[in-house]
Amino acid sequence: MSDTKNKETFGKTVIFVFIICLVCAALVSISAVGLKPLQQANKLLDKQTKILEASGLLEKAGSDIVGTYGKFVTAKMIDLKTGSIIDGNTDMFDERSDSRDANKSTKPENDMAGLSRRADRAVIYLVKNDAGQLDTIVLPIVGSGLWDLMYGFVGLAPDLNTVRSVVYSDLKETPGLGAEVLNPKWKALWPGKKMYNEQGEPVIKLVKGGAKKGDVHGVDALSGATLTSNGVTKTLQFWLGDEGYGPFVKVNREQIRNGGLN
Ligand SMILES: Cc1cc2nc3c(=O)[nH]c(=O)nc-3n(C[C@H](O)[C@H](O)[C@H](O)COP(=O)(O)O)c2cc1C
Repeated sequence: MSDTKNKETFGKTVIFVFIICLVCAALVSISAVGLKPLQQANKLLDKQTKILEASGLLEKAGSDIVGTYGKFVTAKMIDLKTGSIIDGNTDMFDERSDSRDANKSTKPENDMAGLSRRADRAVIYLVKNDAGQLDTIVLPIVGSGLWDLMYGFVGLAPDLNTVRSVVYSDLKETPGLGAEVLNPKWKALWPGKKMYNEQGEPVIKLVKGGAKKGDVHGVDALSGATLTSNGVTKTLQFWLGDEGYGPFVKVNREQIRNGGLN
């Protein structure tokens, strides 16, 4: 009699546990699906914030990131090999996914940024001023730091040489060491620096021990973080070079100077 009762209790316990598992699984799935749009919206807002920061518009934007972005920023898709602007859905473009797809990416000949593969297309951002003239061109960059790939943006003046900003957005470097790329004092060293020398070669670099006064191609390296600093130098030289935005810069420099790229 008591054996039958034990079996009944065991059966009920199993059913109870099963139901609880089902309910929990359903709750997790519902919240994952339900929160996805919010996560995507936050991701987009974060990207727009960084692009505004890279173009010097963040303070002006205040809390109206979306409105300011919509008013001043135009995204364009480019073919990195030819440097030309091409058609494409800039909202849906995902550099990380393209760079993993062998049909949409290329193995760099000189992979100094440590990418393994580089997406064949990129989305760049043209930022206007209040008068409607092109003010900043924001170029996404990615390259190896010490621990992992570091993602960010470079803001360039319309001469496509003078730096307005270098803004990192996603990195796993150590706080106080490599993550000092996020320090406003270090970021303040960038405006006015020149990416290219007279021959059009990307020569910008971080200098260990500090850049000499008047060195327009040198920026102080991060102290105690030589490996991250080298990563930043190589990332910038790669992306401003022939296998990055070099062709885009060559094709469009004159056009941009004349205000023709809209
Ligand atoms: C826990 C730990 C975290 C570190 N994080 C970084 C880092 O994020 N970036 C970096 O360049 N070096 C980092 N380093 C230091 C490097 O190992 C290396 O010593 C340093 O880059 C040398 O830079 P220095 O020549 O300027 O001293 C870290 C070291 C330790 C022990």
